[in-house]
Amino acid sequence: MKLAILLGSLRKASFNTAVARALPSLAPSGVSFEALPSIGQLPIYDADIQAAGFPAAVTALGNAIKAADGIVIVTPEYNYSVPGGLKNAIDWVSRLPEKPFAGKPVLIQSASISMLGGARAQYHLRQILVFVDAAVMNLPEVMVAQAQNKIDAASGSLTDAGTKDVISAQLRNFAAFVRKLQAGAALQA
Ligand code: FNR
Repeated sequence: MKLAILLGSLRKASFNTAVARALPSLAPSGVSFEALPSIGQLPIYDADIQAAGFPAAVTALGNAIKAADGIVIVTPEYNYSVPGGLKNAIDWVSRLPEKPFAGKPVLIQSASISMLGGARAQYHLRQILVFVDAAVMNLPEVMVAQAQNKIDAASGSLTDAGTKDVISAQLRNFAAFVRKLQAGAALQA
């Protein structure tokens, strides 16, 4: 099972990137990860740019989403919502002729320095993912609160055992969720 990670932060020392980096070691066997192209490569959405032809970075992102068995979005919360760059990336790929998110299993994780761990961004993200028709897994949720105490700044590695356990459980559930959706799609084919 090939999962692709969409990162909401561009920061080099990002806590969310640190969480994403930990995923391969916390996933069940048979699950592999790749990073999707950076959202930082995309221009701000502009219908006139689209009319002149989708930028290559948008097409590449859309193709990589389509090719994956599932997408894991790992994102910070900015001003109680989704970072603009992540929303911009979803806006761009939502305009591609073959909707890459349609029916695609999606998992959400967030890390933040606050007590809520990015919960408000997650619920806004869920709302956005309705219109692109993604198959978002509901539970369990992963919100890494006070990430600065759970990630070693020097190595950029996730060190908190409780957080690792919650992420492992979520990834086990997501692998089963993806398999169930794929089995349902095979029956309908
Ligand atoms: C933040 N941060 C933040 N945190 C939060 O829990 N709720 C919020 O609404 C916001 N708002 C916000 C806006 C902007 C513009 C920035 C730059 C930051 C703080 C955020 O949790 C913190 O900067 C994280 O470290 C960002 O994630 P990365 O880059 O470490 O992955």
